[in-house]
Amino acid sequence: MYSKTKFIHIFTLVFALTIQTICSFEYKHHNNEELNQLLQDIHHKCPSITRLYELSEKSVNGWPLTVIEISTNPGEHELLKPEFKYVANMHGNEVLGRELLLRLADYLCDKYRNNNVYVQNLVNNTRIHLLPSLNPDGWELATANLDQNHGSDWLLGRSNLNGIDINRDFPDLDMVAFRHGTKDDFLNTLIYHKMQPETRAAVVWLLSNPFVLSANLHGGALVANYPFDETPDGSMNTYTASADDTTFRHLARTYATNHKRMSQIGTACEQDEDFGKQGGITNGASWYSVAGGMQDFNYLATNTFEITLELGCDKYPPESKLAKEWEDNKQALLEFINQAHIGAKGLVRDENGMPVDNAIIRVQNITDGVNQIINHDISTTKNGEYWRLLTPGLYKIMAAKFGYVPEVKTVMIEPRNTTATQATNVHFVLRTLFE
Ligand SMILES: *[C@@H]1O[C@H](CO)[C@@H](O)[C@H](O)[C@H]1NC(C)=O
Ligand SMILES: *[C@@H]1O[C@H](CO)[C@@H](O)[C@H](O)[C@H]1NC(C)=O
Ligand SMILES: [Zn+2]
Repeated sequence: MYSKTKFIHIFTLVFALTIQTICSFEYKHHNNEELNQLLQDIHHKCPSITRLYELSEKSVNGWPLTVIEISTNPGEHELLKPEFKYVANMHGNEVLGRELLLRLADYLCDKYRNNNVYVQNLVNNTRIHLLPSLNPDGWELATANLDQNHGSDWLLGRSNLNGIDINRDFPDLDMVAFRHGTKDDFLNTLIYHKMQPETRAAVVWLLSNPFVLSANLHGGALVANYPFDETPDGSMNTYTASADDTTFRHLARTYATNHKRMSQIGTACEQDEDFGKQGGITNGASWYSVAGGMQDFNYLATNTFEITLELGCDKYPPESKLAKEWEDNKQALLEFINQAHIGAKGLVRDENGMPVDNAIIRVQNITDGVNQIINHDISTTKNGEYWRLLTPGLYKIMAAKFGYVPEVKTVMIEPRNTTATQATNVHFVLRTLFE
């Protein structure tokens, strides 16, 4: 009898401990210290698939801008494996995304350890970077000024500590693009534009990693917003399509339809903006024009496709709502990451098998007899890699670089049949033009 009781006790204890480790996530608003501690804890729970690193600069008040990377080879880019990022809380008083990314990191870690096939496929095939807060100072300001009903001010804490809105502080490449500026015009805009430390840190990060797909997480509305964010003529709101409008609409729709409420009619925050009627998505500039935003900077300065997620009417939801918000956003957050695998990817090499970097990848849509150049080139990495997000259809893809004979391939992009399906491989070998 005695030994049996003891056995049961030990069993209960072990069981309780296991439950505790697995379900340890606490839904609350993590302050900056707790945020960094939680990321450390997740890293210690899953050391083989996580790594923490900081962006190149700290916030004005000295908080690190900490990223958790989740991948099977932390710290290393693997050939042809797409890189993905989520950025939250760049508006310090829009706090839901920050807690969702902490929860997501913990979830990916736990599910990976428990051999969840979906999460393992996602993490095995994608290098994921999560930045829970790009504006930790603004978060502190917003949090210190919550009223007695836990209500937050609509604007206090939105900007960084110098009073600058980080999402208006990026070099305005839209205007260069709308005027058909040259590469030099782009570079000059980068050089002359003075930036806040948080913005500069983000810019350095974006320019030094081959991110393929990204979203930045906000609050105050419920909608998935896609480029362009800025109108070319300074008007308040005019639909301003990018060359990749179809693909962006697909990406935004993926988030909206996998979210429990975003694509439903009648979920609007303001009377005049029922985004549910548009399936929970909107072109940024057709909603309201924004200059100097991060989303368009991603698209125009790098190979990254970024959308902006407005996660709810309440910018600072009470802690009691966080678990439900996670349930509402979980599938959307996961499926959106999976979109890093749509379209085509491949290597561009020379006839000796050496990588050709900085080659351009240009796409022509020839689906159903249309004959349309998609006026947005992707360039290859130093390993000669490219990723070209595309919706299903028939395309001509060209790889070209000065000094080489361009090569064009026709490729059918099929719809993805499982969530583990990767981009279609299309490789190129370029012959040198001058011997
Ligand atoms: C993911 O990769 C790990 C390590 O290589 C492997 O053990 C696991 O089986 C993979 N999971 C899936 C679903 O392929
Ligand atoms: C290519 O053209 C087809 C037919 O018009 C269209 O359905 C598809 O969305 C286009 N693809 C892209 C990426 O624009
Ligand atoms: Zn915002």
